[in-house]
Amino acid sequence: MSEPLLEVRDLAKRFPIGGGFLSRRPAAELRAVDGVSFSIAEGETLGLVGESGCGKSTTGKMVMRLLAPTAGRIAYAGEDVAGMTDDRTRWFRQQVQMVFQDPFSSLNPRKTVAEIVGQPIALLGEDGGDRRRLRERVFELLDMVGLDPNHANRYPHQFSGGQRQRIGIARALAVRPKLIVLDEPVSALDLSIQAQIINLLTDLQREFGLSYLFISHDLNVVEYLSHRVAVMYLGKIVEAAPAEALFRAPKHPYTQALLSAVLSEDGGSAPMVLEGEIPSPMAVPSGCRFRTRCPRAEPRCAEVEPALEPRAATHRAACHFPVS
Ligand SMILES: Nc1ncnc2c1ncn2[C@@H]1O[C@H](COP(=O)(O)OP(=O)(O)OP(=O)(O)O)[C@@H](O)[C@H]1O
Ligand SMILES: [Mg+2]
Repeated sequence: MSEPLLEVRDLAKRFPIGGGFLSRRPAAELRAVDGVSFSIAEGETLGLVGESGCGKSTTGKMVMRLLAPTAGRIAYAGEDVAGMTDDRTRWFRQQVQMVFQDPFSSLNPRKTVAEIVGQPIALLGEDGGDRRRLRERVFELLDMVGLDPNHANRYPHQFSGGQRQRIGIARALAVRPKLIVLDEPVSALDLSIQAQIINLLTDLQREFGLSYLFISHDLNVVEYLSHRVAVMYLGKIVEAAPAEALFRAPKHPYTQALLSAVLSEDGGSAPMVLEGEIPSPMAVPSGCRFRTRCPRAEPRCAEVEPALEPRAATHRAACHFPVS
């Protein structure tokens, strides 16, 4: 197999909390991302899924280089991003783009759609300073994402939520990226609109060979779009597998619980209830971080942290007692 487009190794982000100059509390540390490794091939979608606060967005921001990692390494096309020169960084910012969850706050309300979509092209000098060429490219992009190019002079508030997300996607596509980090891109949209945006993303991927890091807390959405899925819990990946295998036969009790909750929403069997609250990322449990809520936990789980290891032909799971 050829080299992956993106390779992430042992990535961590710890936020210092309190302990400031005037604070009486001792300094503490929040482990938002606690040693995460994954790769994404060209044309591939990796779904990153997990409950609120497990570190998905923080991971995405580190990949985008919006946030500096505390530890670990990110390589893009084989090149360590931390060691990139300004020139290489400019190239990286063209190659990797992001689409955000909220299509209402991520678009500048005072700019027209043509300005929003055209700005990254002009910034990178891709239009060669030619205004007519820029305008044509903007029309082409709007058409590509299913928007009427005649609406290029309208402002974001004149569009619906789904249309605004299409504008966000057009803006991301403008500089011909290869990898797009999609952070909950459909979570703010109605179900029927979600399906349209997911279909659009799938079509664009096929047409341009795009790679996606698709972040979502919604397993249904992830299943549609992802080739492979990584499940995160409290800052770590606890299971990773091709989407089909993961949904058919989860190995980690956490994945199993998440899936059973989804099935029961659809009117299937009763959900397997997860006991207790998610622990604080400022006090991650010893051993297996899921053990405090795990129906299969044994004393060993409090002592030894399970590594993310092969548990079946296609699965890796971080569990001492995986589901058979
Ligand atoms: N700048 C920050 N300073 C301190 N803590 C932070 C910061 N950013 C994120 N966190 C914490 O890090 C943890 C992971 O946050 P993150 O936003 O990555 O989660 P998430 O999986 O994207 O959640 P959601 O599904 O709600 O978007 C959370 O406990 C969050 O409160
Ligand atoms: Mg998030």
